[in-house]
Amino acid sequence: MPFSAQIYRERRRRLAEKTREGIAIIPTASEQIRSRDSDFPFRPDSYFYYLTGFAEPEAVLVIIAGEHERSILFCLKRDIKEEQWFGHRLGLEGAKKVSGVDEVYPISSLDKEMPWLLMDQRVVYLPGETSEWVERIKNWFVDIQIAMGKFRLHDQGDYRNAYDLLDEMRLIKQPEEISLLRQAAQISAYALNTAMRACSPGVAEYELEAVLAHKFRRENSVYAFQPIVAGGKNACILHYIENNCLLKNGDLVLMDIGCELDCYASDISRTFPINGKFSREQKIIYKIVLAAQEAAIKRVKPGNNFFDLHRMAVRIITAGLIKHGLLTGELERLIKDKAYMRFFMHSLGHCVGLDTHDSGSKEIRDGQQVLRPGMVLTVEPGIYIQPDDATVDLKWRGIGIRIEDTVLVTESGCEILTAAAPKKIKDIEFLMRQ
Ligand code: GLY
Ligand code: MN
Ligand code: MN
Repeated sequence: MPFSAQIYRERRRRLAEKTREGIAIIPTASEQIRSRDSDFPFRPDSYFYYLTGFAEPEAVLVIIAGEHERSILFCLKRDIKEEQWFGHRLGLEGAKKVSGVDEVYPISSLDKEMPWLLMDQRVVYLPGETSEWVERIKNWFVDIQIAMGKFRLHDQGDYRNAYDLLDEMRLIKQPEEISLLRQAAQISAYALNTAMRACSPGVAEYELEAVLAHKFRRENSVYAFQPIVAGGKNACILHYIENNCLLKNGDLVLMDIGCELDCYASDISRTFPINGKFSREQKIIYKIVLAAQEAAIKRVKPGNNFFDLHRMAVRIITAGLIKHGLLTGELERLIKDKAYMRFFMHSLGHCVGLDTHDSGSKEIRDGQQVLRPGMVLTVEPGIYIQPDDATVDLKWRGIGIRIEDTVLVTESGCEILTAAAPKKIKDIEFLMRQ
């Protein structure tokens, strides 16, 4: 269920305040063909949904800022015949009610109405860095010229990116969003616990995925991304999604999963022993990753810089690898040379919200944006020892471990939204005995 219309009205007002003048055009996503006449399930565009709460395809939001501020939604009309084939539509009135826009028009009238809405506008806020929309808008300006017998806006137009402004807004989550993100995180954490209990040698990766799918759909949630269920050396492939191997006794399995609830994502990883007990080597690597993750989470608080947390995780991981002979040399030198990147090659985390890799991810990673209350982000260090890495002892090869939590930055620190899934060795082993 979307939020109340007042929330979307308020967000549009804030956007109009930021643009101050001009017109913003925010379309929803297009439907994607999976194969022939079979589509992927439709997922609205996150920016569009953020501003409307309207989840049907073929819709465009237009916001006019300034003295006569107003918002206009173009969407599909109700059509009994079409609906019999393709499902219920809210129609113009329903869409207006959900989103709280001032005006609604059928999407079929977009080309007719847009020239009039663009008339006298100097600044156009586009959906991202898109040339497709610039072309369409230029054509609408030509239509104005034809209709008026003269050009009302010079050919160039002043085109800006509306997403940049929306990214700033999406970075700090509102209480309603936090509540959904918390629920999504809990569903994912509990689903992971169920998968841990269902795990034993001989079970297939896809069977553990099936456990998740069952848990997610029971809560009316869907995958936020293709889940990773990676047994043994498959965990060393960062985006492994085949999930088609049998789980072997003595190996670990890495699960990186997240459900999406009402378009809000979650993201959690746990790595656990397939037979329920960590081996000596697995324990050693696991403890290094956990130490890095816990140390970083401890420092998730307002004012801290996420890039510093990344650097701290790098230091802990590099020191651990040196201690156990996987890296040789002096700590500072190895950090400077980025020697750790053979084992820890991704960043410490990203923002989570309407998208799994949400607005602000780049800014927090680069350290341009310090942590602020209301941000939601992941902390996810890992160590991956490639199965063919001849520079390390055989006993380490093929171990891949990532530990990931989604956390909310609070006024005084953080709340771990995915805390329901254990990550200490003894707690994992205890859960797997149940
Ligand atoms: N599951 C995607 C990520 O961890 O970033
Ligand atoms: Mn993840
Ligand atoms: Mn992640």
